[in-house]
Amino acid sequence: MSGSETRVMLAVGEVARRSGIAVSTVHFYEAKGLIAGERTPGNQRRYHRSVLRRIAIIRIAQRAGIPLATVHEALHDLPHDHTPNARDWRHFTETWKDMLEERINGLIQLRDQLTSCIGCGCLSLEDCPLRNPGDELGQRGSGPRRLVSGEGVPVVDPTIDLNIG
Ligand code: FES
Repeated sequence: MSGSETRVMLAVGEVARRSGIAVSTVHFYEAKGLIAGERTPGNQRRYHRSVLRRIAIIRIAQRAGIPLATVHEALHDLPHDHTPNARDWRHFTETWKDMLEERINGLIQLRDQLTSCIGCGCLSLEDCPLRNPGDELGQRGSGPRRLVSGEGVPVVDPTIDLNIG
């Protein structure tokens, strides 16, 4: 590492302070491959300044509930010494906006289903929309679908005589 490169490289404490996160979080992001540092000849971790924008993107994505694996995928092709620019940011936000809308729609649906369950408590696999979202069983055909397929149904011993009385 040359002298000029050393000047633009940041120590872990500085990255944490300037990003408003804990040092342990910096290490966590690095362990997850979201950011990368390098070692100085004195065996200390140093990070390129571009890490600050990467962390800002990671934090925003986390606030939006984007899974870290998805963030990792998005950042994967960006070299660690490349500062994400407006074009990169547009790409992330467009992709994540779609994901967010999908999640919001899913949550709205869940809220509505939950509302219909308030005060019920049956948790019926056939009737409860939370247990059978989108009437999954109904879409597989009419009749006792779980009995027909045998899934989740306790096996009845065929030798037992069910003709009681
Ligand atoms: S708990 Fe009864 S319908 Fe969901």
